[in-house]
Amino acid sequence: MCGIVGYIGGRTAWPIIVGGLQRLEYRGYDSAGIAVVDDGQIRINKCRGKVSDLRSLVRGQNISGTIGIGHTRWATHGEPNDINAHPHMSMNGKFVVVHNGIIENYRTIKAQLEQKGYAFRSQTDTEVLANLIENIYLEKQISPESAIKAALSISVGAYGLGIICTDQPDRLFAARKGSPLAVGIGQGEYFIASDATPIVEYTDQLVYLEDEQVAVMTTDGISITDLKDTPFDPIITNVDFGTEGIDKGGFDHFMLKEIYEQPNSLADTMRGRIIEQTGTINLSGINEIMPKLVGVNRIIIVACGTSYHAGLVGEYLFEQFARINVEVEYASEFRYRDPIISPEDVVIAISQSGETADTLAAIRLAKQKGATILGICNVVGSSIARETHAGMYTHAGPEIGVASTKAFTSQVVALTMMAILLGRKRGILDDKTYNELTTELRRTPELISEVLKDNDHIREVSRAYQLAQNAIYLGRGYLYPVALEGALKLKEISYIHAEGYPAAEMKHGPIALIDNCMPVFALATHDKHYDKILSNIQEVKARKGQVIAIVSRGDTEIARIADYVIEIPECHEALMPMIAVVPLQLISYHIAVMRGCNVDQPRNLAKSVTVE
Ligand code: AGP
Ligand code: GLU
Repeated sequence: MCGIVGYIGGRTAWPIIVGGLQRLEYRGYDSAGIAVVDDGQIRINKCRGKVSDLRSLVRGQNISGTIGIGHTRWATHGEPNDINAHPHMSMNGKFVVVHNGIIENYRTIKAQLEQKGYAFRSQTDTEVLANLIENIYLEKQISPESAIKAALSISVGAYGLGIICTDQPDRLFAARKGSPLAVGIGQGEYFIASDATPIVEYTDQLVYLEDEQVAVMTTDGISITDLKDTPFDPIITNVDFGTEGIDKGGFDHFMLKEIYEQPNSLADTMRGRIIEQTGTINLSGINEIMPKLVGVNRIIIVACGTSYHAGLVGEYLFEQFARINVEVEYASEFRYRDPIISPEDVVIAISQSGETADTLAAIRLAKQKGATILGICNVVGSSIARETHAGMYTHAGPEIGVASTKAFTSQVVALTMMAILLGRKRGILDDKTYNELTTELRRTPELISEVLKDNDHIREVSRAYQLAQNAIYLGRGYLYPVALEGALKLKEISYIHAEGYPAAEMKHGPIALIDNCMPVFALATHDKHYDKILSNIQEVKARKGQVIAIVSRGDTEIARIADYVIEIPECHEALMPMIAVVPLQLISYHIAVMRGCNVDQPRNLAKSVTVE
């Protein structure tokens, strides 16, 4: 999610805040805003667009206040526009809030507040939180701090918050749960921000709030307590990096940062969709077309590139769990083929950017022919998202690296939840299987974290192949699309020619390519294809090929014949794509770095292909 900046001290607040937001813009954003306490009044400026647009809006207004909060938005609830931009003021003007994250139970809270006469200007979950705080504050006649804590105790989800109360304009409130929030400690001044980026030019003394901690700052000092008022002494961290290296959160490249974000981004995709207490799946974005989905005979998935590979995983998922016939199509081919589409069909468009021209054209064609269109996008309010009948946002947060990584795993987990839910509703999955799958699905972030711990070993394996001219990726079943994705990752950032194949296809031609210079990446985890993929590895070794095998933890059989093995944790074969792709992402990253390639902006590529 995007960025928060706040300031309280002796300096004019707005240049510090807007400058800080500018430093966060690498996180991506669709709108920005600022609120400053100026001569006892709250001055709010916000707009869709870039931080530079906000700066132009504010610059001429001579806002001299020394307390303020600002925000760059990565929309999750409500289109990117001036009204949905943050800060959000509560209905009676008592609280102003900027928020990173998702309040999962905002619909329930909003309905309760509407019953009490609250009216809402925006579509956001954040405005609901602002009004909840105000309602508690006015109804219970308690302090602003206590009202904030009471509201956060009711809210479910993730938040990084900056809050100002107009009845206490001499203090700045901050709170965090799930979305990071740092507090900078200066001389008689305090800074808050989503990370150290906007703060380090003013102070190297930082406090990183822990989950469910609330900080209250005045120019005289800071208090940190939890939602139950337990006090905490600030644990001060001295940051010793300049601003240049932290625009990527301390990583050398956005791609590596986004690979490492996957445990969190997967959790964000599942947040509010797998109900904590019951483990049941609730996909509110597709509820309205659920009857159509439950009775559908055919699903057509249209996408490009990595999103197409996610769609291929979806084919296995829908067929296995929901027994639905699925076709996966390259959008660019689908749109020109005059395909046979009927009103009974459901077409699912998968797109990280939501702007890919071929995918957009494909759904427009399908819509004209009467099909029901579903979208799985990462960018809220994107063109594809707006043109579908229903859908799911992946909530993976901004993906800056051109090579898609966290978007892929979030797309796959979205498809997995959809397939399991449909399987349940179509009576294919019994309770036991359904519960086992949702329980295991919730473990995937932790399993990916385990794979990431092996990065040093994976980098050493990659070193052996940095000079390769070609590479082959092999997989069977659910891991066949992962083989395609691994090959795409390698070719698009290291410029090594790489191809992915269903492993059994080797004997139908590609095996002619095998010699002692050809690295073959084999996805060989313990599933029903294990013996067959083992044979494929032996066929490659018999022709002196180099084999790098991704295997299940503890596998010794393949270790005896492969040149390198990378062990990953076991899980249900249907969930393995999200885990098995991570070593391949890291391999392509390390080889590209070793080859001196521009990892985040590879030659000839763009993050979103909005042209044909
Ligand atoms: C993947 O690493 C590439 N950047 C590219 O194949 C991408 O997946 C494709 O252009 C589709 O983009 P979309 O998901 O935004 O539609
Ligand atoms: N959920 C909030 C919104 O959609 C915050 C999004 C963000 O983290 O920028 O406005």
